[in-house]
Amino acid sequence: MKLPPAPPLYLLLLLLIAATASAADIPLGSTLYASDPTSRWSSPNNTFTLSFTTNPTSPAGTLIAAVTYTNISIWKAGPSTNSTAVLRLLPSGDLHLLPTPTSTTPLWSSATANLGVSAASLEESGNFVLKNSSGAAVWSTFDHPADTIVPTQNLNVNLTLSSGLYSFRIHNNGNLTLLWNNSIVYYNSGLNSTMNSNLTNPILDIQPTGILTLSDPTLSSQLDLAYSSDYAEEGNILRFLKLDNDGNLRIYSSARGSGTVNVRWAAVSDQCQVYGFCGNMGICSYNDTYPVCGCPSQNFDLVDPTDSRKGCKRRVELQDCPGRESMLQLDHSRFLAFQPELASQVYFIGISACRLNCLVGPCTASTSLADGSGLCYLKSGSTFVSGYHSPAIPSTSFVKVCGPVMPNPSLATTSSVSGIRWRLTAWLVVVVVAVTIFGLIVVEGGLWWWCFKNSPKFGGLSAQYALLEYASGAPVQFSYKELHKATKGFKEKLGAGGFGAVYKGVLANKTVAAVKQLEGIEQGEKQFRMEVATISSTHHLNLVRLIGFCSEGRHRLLVYEFMKNVSLDNFLFISNEHSGKHLNWENRYNIALGTAKGITYLHEECRDCIVHCDIKPENILLDENYYAKVSDFGLAKLVNPKDHRYRTLTSVRGTRGYLAPEWLANLPITSKSDVYSYGMVLLEIVSGRRNFEVSEVTNHKKFSSWAYEEFEKGNIEAIVDGRLQRNEMDMEQVVRAIQVSFWCIQEQPSQRPMMGKVVQMLEGILEIDRPPAPKAVTEGSICGTSVTASSVSALSTFAASMPMPSSSSSLQMAGISSFASGKHGERASSSLSNSSRK
Ligand SMILES: *[C@@H]1O[C@H](CO)[C@@H](O)[C@H](O)[C@H]1NC(C)=O
Ligand SMILES: *[C@@H]1O[C@H](CO)[C@@H](O)[C@H](O)[C@H]1NC(C)=O
Ligand SMILES: *[C@@H]1O[C@H](CO)[C@@H](O)[C@H](O)[C@H]1NC(C)=O
Ligand SMILES: *[C@@H]1O[C@H](CO)[C@@H](O)[C@H](O)[C@H]1NC(C)=O
Ligand SMILES: *[C@@H]1O[C@H](CO)[C@@H](O)[C@H](O)[C@H]1NC(C)=O
Ligand SMILES: *[C@@H]1O[C@H](CO)[C@@H](O)[C@H](O)[C@H]1NC(C)=O
Ligand SMILES: *[C@@H]1O[C@H](CO)[C@@H](O)[C@H](O)[C@H]1NC(C)=O
Ligand SMILES: *[C@@H]1O[C@H](CO)[C@@H](O)[C@H](O)[C@H]1NC(C)=O
Ligand SMILES: *[C@@H]1O[C@H](CO)[C@@H](O)[C@H](O)[C@H]1NC(C)=O
Ligand SMILES: *[C@@H]1O[C@H](CO)[C@@H](O)[C@H](O)[C@H]1NC(C)=O
Repeated sequence: MKLPPAPPLYLLLLLLIAATASAADIPLGSTLYASDPTSRWSSPNNTFTLSFTTNPTSPAGTLIAAVTYTNISIWKAGPSTNSTAVLRLLPSGDLHLLPTPTSTTPLWSSATANLGVSAASLEESGNFVLKNSSGAAVWSTFDHPADTIVPTQNLNVNLTLSSGLYSFRIHNNGNLTLLWNNSIVYYNSGLNSTMNSNLTNPILDIQPTGILTLSDPTLSSQLDLAYSSDYAEEGNILRFLKLDNDGNLRIYSSARGSGTVNVRWAAVSDQCQVYGFCGNMGICSYNDTYPVCGCPSQNFDLVDPTDSRKGCKRRVELQDCPGRESMLQLDHSRFLAFQPELASQVYFIGISACRLNCLVGPCTASTSLADGSGLCYLKSGSTFVSGYHSPAIPSTSFVKVCGPVMPNPSLATTSSVSGIRWRLTAWLVVVVVAVTIFGLIVVEGGLWWWCFKNSPKFGGLSAQYALLEYASGAPVQFSYKELHKATKGFKEKLGAGGFGAVYKGVLANKTVAAVKQLEGIEQGEKQFRMEVATISSTHHLNLVRLIGFCSEGRHRLLVYEFMKNVSLDNFLFISNEHSGKHLNWENRYNIALGTAKGITYLHEECRDCIVHCDIKPENILLDENYYAKVSDFGLAKLVNPKDHRYRTLTSVRGTRGYLAPEWLANLPITSKSDVYSYGMVLLEIVSGRRNFEVSEVTNHKKFSSWAYEEFEKGNIEAIVDGRLQRNEMDMEQVVRAIQVSFWCIQEQPSQRPMMGKVVQMLEGILEIDRPPAPKAVTEGSICGTSVTASSVSALSTFAASMPMPSSSSSLQMAGISSFASGKHGERASSSLSNSSRK
């Protein structure tokens, strides 16, 4: 249907009708031209735009027709094109992407011809809708998602996000899965098992506040599945969920108009665990923070030297060297194995059989898990092989190559032959040294025993315990059996800390102790002992003392002195059972000061300085006099030295709210990160409320942001815990504590004081300047490292351990309010910003 040339009046009338129908309606026959940068369809407030834009991930010179938020694409039509392309809403109601204006064969079509489409519009939510004359949506971009969903867009079981070979779906049972090539499930996260029944129509969406929620008719309320790290923070921020082309699913946030995006959550915290990230035969590893792809050895070449993610190929194919294959050995490496492939790959055979079976069989690669399970994965025939190398991985892998094997120096590969020789030598040295030391110990021990055998001190102690404790001050080594007995079979659980559960035990000498059963330790025995030595050589009144340890097989346990009054959180927060007990202001001030002193010792005064990495009320224990003792120090390093993943461990286990922004931005973690966490704890000590609590009272903001606003207004009273007796309080101390806490939680690490300064400020020795707003001037000045496809996000958490806001529906984004005023950021206290000593 073609319109006859319209007389001006008729046209005017038509425009008037269109205008009254809806200001933003796009009539049939409209066209967007790739050659014209001003040709665009916009939402009423210009928040979203449909136009041709350049796509950072596609080659230069190509364009995509996309709905964008500033320059961030949230939906795209069809493949990449060039500047001759057009996007046309045909009179039939079909939307076509055409290679040239005159072409009739579309590159992509909405397939809505003759379905009654009468106009299109781009809504303020970012939804581009083709609608019929009564305004109902016939087709919409929200129902045809690409790789992104934005707030108000729902993902149901029939919709898939996809990006390259990767796809993301929600299933009828509520499970969220990430798939590679529509076959390998490398991420499958279910609901809490009590809810794991068949849902009717599960819908996933992302709230404007940054919470990923699941709703279903059979559920009484929405379930919160994941939180973005900046959830409920104010500002005109768009938060969206995107499946990136590196196979990771992330929540991003972007301040309106800025064009920059920040990762706020990632489903797979360890990027190297994404199947196929480095292509076939590619090996993923980390260079400090970023995942990088390489080849197993010099027997391989990159498929595409300009893009290491495309994988590797053998220099000589296996069929070209029949009978002359050999096995390349890769230490600290494994090949990812997921369902459904996994089922056919698992064997219970030892490491040499794992190698040999692969060599003789129709197998290309194998992994022997060195975790005592005796598991071996054999990758057969032409299956895809996705590798992961890290010093923290105990497994050994083998790849079949045409000999001779040429090791890859960057992966510290040892070829099998020289490897064995080297190992023999190493073992010999270890054995000789061990025998010598053992001999010395026996002699020395004999002497001691001979000298002191009549001393009453030793009654009832095991010889070894007594000897070591009194002879050297070194930590006592316990056997697993001893600790099993001391804790009555790990019966009385005191709590579950970030690194494993803690049990009460009574040692052979009747000392009551807290026994921590460490989880996720992938370190060797030697490193473990070294860390234990460091921890136990760290003595301070405000640090929990390590008595001993156990390292036996896969068991790693630490034995600490027992603290009668458990941890601080039990006294601070109303919902906890000990909350009836009273901590008066004096107690709280002493706890705040003691904690600061303990951390100062860790940072500045001991020999091997320790960054705690996990300061929170749960890790501040109180003795019978309510003196603070910091626990769990040194463990972050122990779990994984220099390994990016320890970041994840800390965040996964519910330390959110205390993590400094640099954790989330992959910036270096320094002692200033502890200062941030301490600042949050200090604020909680004063207020008795969690820093991340969001409620009516706090005006739907995080408590810490709200508290600063109240402080600015001079309303100290509102911040202080209502349970504290006002007449017992030293208000000067209270104000000091509040000011110190705001200095500590500055977004810029350089603006936070050193711990030693914190102690002096709390004690009133050092003058405190008025703290600026904790949040930096512009969003992203620190967390704003723009995100590349290969960057890995530190934060990952899924539901259970998360702090629960009172109700998710009360968490609406608190409107459009501006960022903290710029002046404050500049008014940095000179006495503090110069405080960096090292
Ligand atoms: C557009 O912006 C105005 C003012 O900023 C606001 O009042 C209005 O609600 C916005 N419209 C939509 C559809 O968001
Ligand atoms: C753009 O693409 C069309 C069709 O794919 C092709 O005919 C044309 O030559 C291309 N133009 C440019 C400038 O590359
Ligand atoms: C528009 O679509 C809705 C829903 O599909 C339908 O109920 C309505 O009758 C349609 N209106 C017209 C004029 O076709
Ligand atoms: C999904 O598709 C099936 C089959 O086409 C249909 O029966 C079901 O209603 C759809 N579910 C939703 C939520 O659209
Ligand atoms: C993806 O799967 C298809 C068959 O389902 C297979 O032909 C193709 O080779 C696979 N892609 C890769 C990269 O392995
Ligand atoms: C759902 O996810 C959980 C892990 O959270 C997994 O144990 C379970 O097997 C999954 N269910 C299905 C049907 O995939
Ligand atoms: C599972 O969810 C139910 C209801 O939300 C809750 O009571 C229960 O504690 C949860 N269980 C776990 C293991 O998180
Ligand atoms: C869920 O539905 C499937 C088939 O629709 C059925 O086999 C399964 O038993 C159901 N599971 C539960 C927990 O109801
Ligand atoms: C958008 O533009 C900003 C600056 O204008 C740039 O820093 C950012 O990388 C761009 N983002 C994308 C996705 O192109
Ligand atoms: C690690 O790799 C990334 C991306 O390949 C690169 O930008 C960065 O400079 C590398 N860092 C180091 C320390 O080599």
